[in-house]
Amino acid sequence: MSYKAAIIGCGGIAGAHANSYKELGIDIIAVTDVCEESAKALAAEYNAKIYPDYKTLIDEGKPDLVSICTPPVFHEEAAVYALKAGVNVLCEKPMAHSVESAKAIKKAADESKALFMPAFRHRFVPANIKLKEMIAEGKIGDVIYFNNAFGGPMFEMEGRWFTKKSIAGGGCLLDTNSHSVDLFRFIIGEIKNQTGMVARHFKTTDVEDSGMICVSTEDGALGNMQSGFVLGDGVAYIDIIGTKGHLIFDYCAGPNVKYRATGECDWTTIELPPSTGFKEEIEHILGTMSGKHPLAITAYDGLRCAEVIFSVYEKID
Ligand SMILES: NC(=O)c1ccc[n+]([C@@H]2O[C@H](COP(=O)([O-])OP(=O)(O)OC[C@H]3O[C@@H](n4cnc5c(N)ncnc54)[C@H](O)[C@@H]3O)[C@@H](O)[C@H]2O)c1
Repeated sequence: MSYKAAIIGCGGIAGAHANSYKELGIDIIAVTDVCEESAKALAAEYNAKIYPDYKTLIDEGKPDLVSICTPPVFHEEAAVYALKAGVNVLCEKPMAHSVESAKAIKKAADESKALFMPAFRHRFVPANIKLKEMIAEGKIGDVIYFNNAFGGPMFEMEGRWFTKKSIAGGGCLLDTNSHSVDLFRFIIGEIKNQTGMVARHFKTTDVEDSGMICVSTEDGALGNMQSGFVLGDGVAYIDIIGTKGHLIFDYCAGPNVKYRATGECDWTTIELPPSTGFKEEIEHILGTMSGKHPLAITAYDGLRCAEVIFSVYEKID
């Protein structure tokens, strides 16, 4: 079946969505952006029609699937409108700028026949799937520590919406560690408790630009997830230590998982296909739309992510 896609918000990440739709042979029939220039640029590249706002795009464009790629504070209104119109939604992370907003999206998703999927693309990165499989197979025994960091030299964030609480909802914990919290829940399991620490180095922002979240599970696995807009060097890794072994996926070292059983000196490197997960996440929701498989990530996952991170904010405020 051939589906028609649309994109709401034509900035940086919209390009990754658009490119993935193209690779999958899906036409982007409609785009919208409050910035006319951004809408024009994406529309020209993908031969899409420009609509003045998300309501007209949904009512008149009649897409089967819409990618919401606006800043977080605008996710809810477009998602709820699309879901009420029966249009399937792939919504960028963080799903929402607050827990209340995440709950409103989940309610609309629960009441709609259309699908809603938060765009947690890292779940589709082959190395992360391998980590999950190896842990499920018992390769490292009981998980003791899940250590993760995502961050980079993103000093330009100081002047952008990413560091404005009213638009982003939070700083790097919400922006970047939303991927971490979701990956922890995907690879290890549900989070029972959470706490954290943050710091602010930018002078003109009202959100954190570095921080860490500590979590635990019911059966005693601990997670430490760090993020930062102000790290001098880029960092992106997951390092998991268990009672019987150790697993590492360093995104910067290539698409592979390193494994070492407890007591062994040598590491085994398991090579995996390179992927950012963007194409696979779109392929996944399209597969659910055609009845091939259930949806792997739902609004509940987006809500849980928001609950964990906003609980940390409450504790450290
Ligand atoms: N999955 C990932 O790895 C990843 C990476 C980067 C960003 N993101 C997420 O994607 C979303 C967008 O981020 P970005 O980097 O593309 O930001 P961006 O600023 O580059 O693009 C956002 C676009 O949305 C437009 N916009 C703002 N309000 C709008 C509205 N009400 N209606 C229509 N368009 C509107 C802006 O004009 C802009 O063109 C955010 O939620 C962000 O956290 C995800």
